[in-house]
Amino acid sequence: MKAAYLKQTGPPENIIYGDLPTPKPGPTQCLVKVGAVSLNPVDTYIRSGMVQMQLPVPFIVGCDLAGTVSEVGAHAARFKPGDRVWGTNQGLLGRQGTFAEFAAVDECWLYPTPGGVSDEQAAAISLVGITAHLGLMRDAKLKKSETIFVNGGSGGVGSTVVQMAKGLGARVITAAGSDEKVEACRKLGADAVINYKKENVDAAIKAFAPAGVNVWWET
Ligand SMILES: NC(=O)c1ccc[n+]([C@@H]2O[C@H](COP(=O)([O-])OP(=O)(O)OC[C@H]3O[C@@H](n4cnc5c(N)ncnc54)[C@H](OP(=O)(O)O)[C@@H]3O)[C@@H](O)[C@H]2O)c1
Repeated sequence: MKAAYLKQTGPPENIIYGDLPTPKPGPTQCLVKVGAVSLNPVDTYIRSGMVQMQLPVPFIVGCDLAGTVSEVGAHAARFKPGDRVWGTNQGLLGRQGTFAEFAAVDECWLYPTPGGVSDEQAAAISLVGITAHLGLMRDAKLKKSETIFVNGGSGGVGSTVVQMAKGLGARVITAAGSDEKVEACRKLGADAVINYKKENVDAAIKAFAPAGVNVWWET
């Protein structure tokens, strides 16, 4: 199969695009025919060696994937061949990554892709979606009508937080670094958007939420 992999960490030039053996699924793994992947900052930290961890050699880069199960291990029971799945947290702590035609992924890391959601959409929301969901629901416990400030609303995590917070019924103010990105944040549903390169962020937040914000999300 074709894969993007490293033999050693370092600059982007260390990424090799070439042939590797198609993996066999372990007992609790699914072999996923990868339909789409997405890139997160952590992929670059691991590729560069900035975040150090034990990596298999060769190491396939990438955390996120979406695709279709093509084979399952002897003790894997959650999915069957033909099921569409998405997942993240691969390429970490000794696990192989996802930037390949096939990935053998433990079934505990996979979730069913809803009908009507493309592989591209599912892969794009995977790590950023889980990050936003854990931060908003588990940690911040954001509630309807509360106010949240999202610093970096145009980024992967920030744009997801803006949309989830609006979905929860919160008042959302966010900051972005250009007029185009300000407009993009408005389209995502933000109630107020600050161009942090032109405006005073503190004053704009105070004008929007004189009593202060309930949640400050820093990306
Ligand atoms: N991706 C994930 O799922 C994930 C999970 C856990 C942790 N993280 C961490 O969270 C951070 C963001 O990740 P990401 O995937 O969202 O990256 P990203 O897509 O690159 O977004 C980062 C955003 O930060 C904004 N920004 C940069 N300088 C700023 C400043 N001075 N003031 C306000 N905003 C500024 C940029 O927006 P402008 O261009 O508009 O300035 C950019 O869109 C990274 O440190 C990453 O390691 C990410």
